[in-house]
Amino acid sequence: MAGKTVDETRMVMSRLMQPPDANSWGNVHGGAIMRMVDEAGGVAAIRHSRCQAVTVSMDRMTFKQPVHIGDLLTIRACLTFTGRSSMEVEAVIEAENIRTGEVRYAGTCYLVYVAIDDQGHPVPVPPLLVRTDEERARWRAAEQRRALRASHEEGASA
Ligand SMILES: CC(C)(COP(=O)(O)OP(=O)(O)OC[C@H]1O[C@@H](n2cnc3c(N)ncnc32)[C@H](O)[C@@H]1OP(=O)(O)O)[C@@H](O)C(=O)NCCC(=O)NCCS
Repeated sequence: MAGKTVDETRMVMSRLMQPPDANSWGNVHGGAIMRMVDEAGGVAAIRHSRCQAVTVSMDRMTFKQPVHIGDLLTIRACLTFTGRSSMEVEAVIEAENIRTGEVRYAGTCYLVYVAIDDQGHPVPVPPLLVRTDEERARWRAAEQRRALRASHEEGASA
């Protein structure tokens, strides 16, 4: 199967935060941000595999900055690693105050998607072609997270 580069499936999703996204004080719910992160990551994974892709894991998310109603939330998602059927996506979250132009880094999350067929069984995905030093470093870090997740799974099922 022919490989695909990181740039071929990179995804940027932006949305203006509205009152239904937030609590009574105007702070956007973490869940609203996580939903956008999952959507953006899912698009990158589907673009890479051109298959249905389901979220199998979402790593811990730490919100570094509050996001408010009226901020433009942007998720930048790209693949960092592919296994046989799984794909790790890095999602970087930014919030822009569109009146001042100030852009705040709000956090990074790593998600794993698995490509599946119509019966819900995992199917192979194209290998990710990592070309730059930065992409190779991300791949190595993703391998470490994959090993850590596997050890957590073992611990959970023991
Ligand atoms: C995704 C799913 C089909 C995988 O089934 P499975 O029986 O675990 O399949 P496998 O053991 O063959 O694993 C398939 C891949 O998933 C990866 N995987 C499985 N569990 C994982 C986990 N907890 N974290 C990260 N990767 C995981 C495996 O490492 C493997 O990757 P590889 O093919 O690149 O080596 C199944 O777990 C599922 O349907 N989950 C529900 C997904 C879903 O509905 N998500 C929406 C939110 S609920």
